[in-house]
Amino acid sequence: SWTAANIAESLIEQVRAQVGDGRAICGLSGGVDSAVAAALVQRAIGDRLTCVFVDHGLMREGERQQVEKDFVAATGARLVTVDASETFLRELSGVTDPETKRKIIGREFIRSFEGAVAEVLGEGAEKGETVEFLVQGTLYPDVVESGGGSGTANIKSHHNVGGLPEDLQFSLVEPLRLLFKDEVRAVGRQLGLPEEIVGRQPFPGPGLGIRIIGEVTRERLEILRRADSIAREELTSAGLDGQIWQCPVVLLADVRSVGVQGDGRTYGHPIVLRPVSSEDAMTADWTRLPYETLERISTRITNEVAEVNRVVLDVTSKPPGTIEWE
Ligand code: XMP
Repeated sequence: SWTAANIAESLIEQVRAQVGDGRAICGLSGGVDSAVAAALVQRAIGDRLTCVFVDHGLMREGERQQVEKDFVAATGARLVTVDASETFLRELSGVTDPETKRKIIGREFIRSFEGAVAEVLGEGAEKGETVEFLVQGTLYPDVVESGGGSGTANIKSHHNVGGLPEDLQFSLVEPLRLLFKDEVRAVGRQLGLPEEIVGRQPFPGPGLGIRIIGEVTRERLEILRRADSIAREELTSAGLDGQIWQCPVVLLADVRSVGVQGDGRTYGHPIVLRPVSSEDAMTADWTRLPYETLERISTRITNEVAEVNRVVLDVTSKPPGTIEWE
């Protein structure tokens, strides 16, 4: 029967059988899926798992600190942080096509994991030790929408499915591959992960890189980070987090419109709010947020982020829209 305890137990057994006495690394993104995958594998193989946090520079405000603090505090897992923002931004420069961005980000994640192996093994590397396994928090919907399911089109390449290089040096361990998000959360709670981790709203591995429509640059990331942080703050303080599945905040970096502020003309960028309600992210409806909250978010973003002079609301369900814009 389906209980979180049964599922967790059988997934732990499967991981043990697959990894044997090998070593694994697990990329943490700050999201629920990778945290639960890591916690499962840690149960299965203990310290032969090392978690790797790749700071690709596409994180939201405060994300890195959250992983370094919350996850390690909850699990006691070994964590290595890789600073890769220079490389990611260099590889992304000049790129505007969404699938190309996704593939570059997927590839650079793997390169960063490969680069972290030496640090993970320490002196063991000289004794010929290796890391054979890479743990990923891939869920069933990620597989389906990346064209991995039978008879489905490739809608978009999720970074940990469609963007993997062909010469991957790791075997993949994907214990959550048949689960939906609510099941993953139940397993996470079963494993004793705190609510701040399992209750988090989804955030995509490619981060803000797929929420800047146009080329990704440091300056644009900074604009989006400020707008996103205001939107999140207002949604939380209005007590709305429980009602929304997630709320991407998107910067239309190549679009400008004319505005007026004080006595002057402005020529700034629009920010899109994309609040959605969903059960499993396969379908979604736009969330009817209270006007007062929308107004507060709009007023604050246009006042506090000089480059933004317009805030618009996405009122499209999925389908036909996807949740993320890229
Ligand atoms: P879409 O945009 O396809 O998103 O409707 C469905 C859900 O998946 C998240 N998402 C991703 N998560 N890597 C991830 O870890 C990805 O490449 C990725 N792309 C989309 C998205 O935030 C939503 O929750």
